[in-house]
Amino acid sequence: MPDLVIKNAKLSLAGEVLEAELSITDGRISKIAKDIRADDTLDARGLLVLPGAIDVHVHFRDPGMTHKEDWYSGSCAAAAGGVTTVIDHPNTIPPTTTLKSFEIKLKASRKSIVDFGINAGVVKGAELEKLWRAGVTAFGEIYMADSVGRLNIDDDILSTVFRTIAQLNAIACLHAEDERIIKRCTEKLKDKVDPSVYSSSRPNESEDSAIARAVQFANVAGTKLHICHISTKEGLRLLGENVTCEVTPHHLFLSEKDWDKLGTFGKMNPPLRSEEDGRALWAALNRIDMIASDHAPHTMGEKEQDIWSAPPGVPGVETSLPLMLSAVKKGRISLQRLIELMATNPARIFGLNGKGDIRVGNDADLVFVDMREIKQVKNLHSKANWTPFEGMNAIFPKMTMVRGEVVFDGEIVGETGSGRFIRGNGFSDS
Ligand code: DOR
Repeated sequence: MPDLVIKNAKLSLAGEVLEAELSITDGRISKIAKDIRADDTLDARGLLVLPGAIDVHVHFRDPGMTHKEDWYSGSCAAAAGGVTTVIDHPNTIPPTTTLKSFEIKLKASRKSIVDFGINAGVVKGAELEKLWRAGVTAFGEIYMADSVGRLNIDDDILSTVFRTIAQLNAIACLHAEDERIIKRCTEKLKDKVDPSVYSSSRPNESEDSAIARAVQFANVAGTKLHICHISTKEGLRLLGENVTCEVTPHHLFLSEKDWDKLGTFGKMNPPLRSEEDGRALWAALNRIDMIASDHAPHTMGEKEQDIWSAPPGVPGVETSLPLMLSAVKKGRISLQRLIELMATNPARIFGLNGKGDIRVGNDADLVFVDMREIKQVKNLHSKANWTPFEGMNAIFPKMTMVRGEVVFDGEIVGETGSGRFIRGNGFSDS
């Protein structure tokens, strides 16, 4: 007998929505059929049931900056937004560049209520091979230009680490901005106070040039390259065969036009782009591999500084799927493509076995939504306590399940620490 059978659901299965029942045994999907016998049932009341979203790019700030976020608050935000697996990025304090700092992060992560992977940071002297054997998911983001955490490296180190990452058969996740172009442009603008100049200080050509160089290095070394938060029409042009990429909801839903409304709260790296870039990103959603939030919370106090001092980054893990579901409702993207971008592709590309699809044998990571219920974004769970998407239409989950356990049902009900660390493919216990 299964532990639980979900009845009266519309299941999103391999591109189709079907009315069927789904049984869960030991946290996994054990059967999908018309009529399954069970002692314990859950009535989905006709809700649409999707695979849990996977956000491969979050900064949960723990250890070291827990006033901005920690593994508990960040994972609550994820659960409330229908995200059942996250991959945390390495610019914490200490940065995740050594085995010791990885162990510190692993200990901090025991508060998570969603499943998670941990990425390793790449700087000169980082213990790449040890971190890979310890089970990190991937390397990066690798910074080609300065951002939060000052983990940027130069081209010589970049081409060397690409060779090591290729030997490990791992993925290099790249923050593609060109340090030299940014320095040159910032120098010209540094006395300006209008926040909108920030976009011009990190222009499109900076992404273009960084991707071009990185793709060359990766091709020579044979490295699997993943471009984080692609934001320009020029960047899209350079995507080739061995390269995957992600786009953020802030580059899809916001543009330079929002500087007036957001002020320094609209600062992030890469920056807000033109409406034309936004349109190009929407049009490329059939070629882009995944949507990831780059959830980068900072407090309101930190953001309320002049444009050059305010830290870059916006929270987003809780709003990605809800904003995108509202785009499905508007007909901007199909439900099937959205599931590929937010669940199936991230699981396949980052090797998260048992995740990303509603399929027998997979983890019962499920999100229950009512496509008729449109709400305006407000009152989120991140410690940041603000969002650049305030007031936008969104379809939030009614319920989120991780491995068959309900973690969110309108309230957070997941037990602290119920999230599991997903070991990367390089893991070995020796
Ligand atoms: O806007 C950003 N914020 N971009 C990054 O690369 C880092 C991130 C953060 O950690 O705040």
